[in-house]
Amino acid sequence: MIKKVPVKKLRIGVYVEKIEQSWLMTPFFFNKFKIASEKEIKKMEEYGIEEVYINTEKGLDAMEADGTQEKPKIQEKKPTEFFGAPPGKLMVDSVLPFDLYIKKDGEHFLYLRKNLPFHFEVNHYLESNRVKTIYIPCSQRDLFNSYEKGMEREWELSHKGLSKGFESEEKIERYIDYLDNYIPVDREVFVHGTRTPVNLYLENHTDVSLILKAERMVPDDDVFGKEEEGKKRKNLLIHINDNEKYRNFIRELAAKKSSGDSEAVVKMRAAVVKENSKMVTKDLLENPRSGEAVKEAKKTVAEMIDAILNLPSSFYGLMKINTYDYYTYVHSINVCTLSIGLAMSLGMREKDLFNLALGSIMHDVGKSRVPSHLINKPGKLTYQEFDLVKKHVEWGAELMREHQDLSPSIFIPMLQHHEKLNGRGYPRNLEQEQIHVYGRISCIVDIYDALTTERSYKKAFRPFEAASLLSKQPEEFDQVIFKHFVTMLGKQTLDNKN
Ligand SMILES: [Fe+2]
Ligand SMILES: [Fe+2]
Repeated sequence: MIKKVPVKKLRIGVYVEKIEQSWLMTPFFFNKFKIASEKEIKKMEEYGIEEVYINTEKGLDAMEADGTQEKPKIQEKKPTEFFGAPPGKLMVDSVLPFDLYIKKDGEHFLYLRKNLPFHFEVNHYLESNRVKTIYIPCSQRDLFNSYEKGMEREWELSHKGLSKGFESEEKIERYIDYLDNYIPVDREVFVHGTRTPVNLYLENHTDVSLILKAERMVPDDDVFGKEEEGKKRKNLLIHINDNEKYRNFIRELAAKKSSGDSEAVVKMRAAVVKENSKMVTKDLLENPRSGEAVKEAKKTVAEMIDAILNLPSSFYGLMKINTYDYYTYVHSINVCTLSIGLAMSLGMREKDLFNLALGSIMHDVGKSRVPSHLINKPGKLTYQEFDLVKKHVEWGAELMREHQDLSPSIFIPMLQHHEKLNGRGYPRNLEQEQIHVYGRISCIVDIYDALTTERSYKKAFRPFEAASLLSKQPEEFDQVIFKHFVTMLGKQTLDNKN
């Protein structure tokens, strides 16, 4: 039986059929799930959900009484009084302890909920929309004041081109060195009882420690570092000199076709596909002129599409590679996979899927010409630096035009992934119909991946937070495509739960 019950009467084992609130406002991507912990109930309360529909055929019934005293309803009211501040007061990548409102059609509009990072993309949105004043509820003035005070030292550093955690040029150099010399690899390909072909390292805030020497057996215990809630998980790394060895190892694993469908084998197979596509993309970004690299990229894209078309559920295993630093090749492969999923949900034909996917894998290829210290700079880029980074769009097209066998539509994701429907994007300020469906897809997916990617020096948005932020910029994105994207993300969360 399906019935409506108050959240305070929920308990572990109850099956939630539907939440009467847009999931965009809550971390509950998909409404249907069985409650597995008290934390989930608490979370619902925190997000102001008061009632839900439960299904007593799929889980336990709700409690008769909640056992607690009737609590007064805490309704989040929209503040009525605000004070203004220039956006320049906010430090890029810092976490804002207050709610940030902007004015739209004369009304205050909650743009960024408190405790979220003032991400580069958020700053970019304010700048490109010429927002001159941000608003903070008067009730949060103290929070704003202490934030401002806390940022004094950071501004001092920022004027010297430095930032918190990177208080000297040497520290920044060490960080860039670390990013350039080590490659993040997937834990799942190292199966207990087999030998690692290469030295394995664990990242330790820009330092690395050797945790398993080449040719040693992979132990059963969690040598790679546990995932602890609330704690940043460390990257498992290999040295760049072992790149070739690692690639061969992945090739061998791919050829082996390990049988069985135990969870470990399924995870390992997905990891092999991901690792292979990551290495191919890395190669392409490092040698964009190489015909061989393009050939390999085509092969990988075809394999990815094939895998997803044959077994749609495998898409969710491939969907996003999570690393705890930014690597253009990881971002490119994420943009490619998410674009394939999104295009499929829009009913795109297989041939069009291929061109979109290949174009997506190449979309940031021009970044190979941007100095690595700009791509990875902690803190805000200067205007001149940002102008240089923006050139990656045209540089990418220029590089790939050397390959005469590429279809013209492959260039669309590359040229249009930073264009916005309202004409506030770059490089050509295209508007509405001037932006192709490939461009509309890659734009949404590109920002989503940027928002949800952690870096050593900044917190990432969680998926629902990123989707919620994007939903507040409807003038920039195609709303039909965005809705499909949101549905797709919701399904992924459901799959991970089961
Ligand atoms: Fe880009
Ligand atoms: Fe990108």
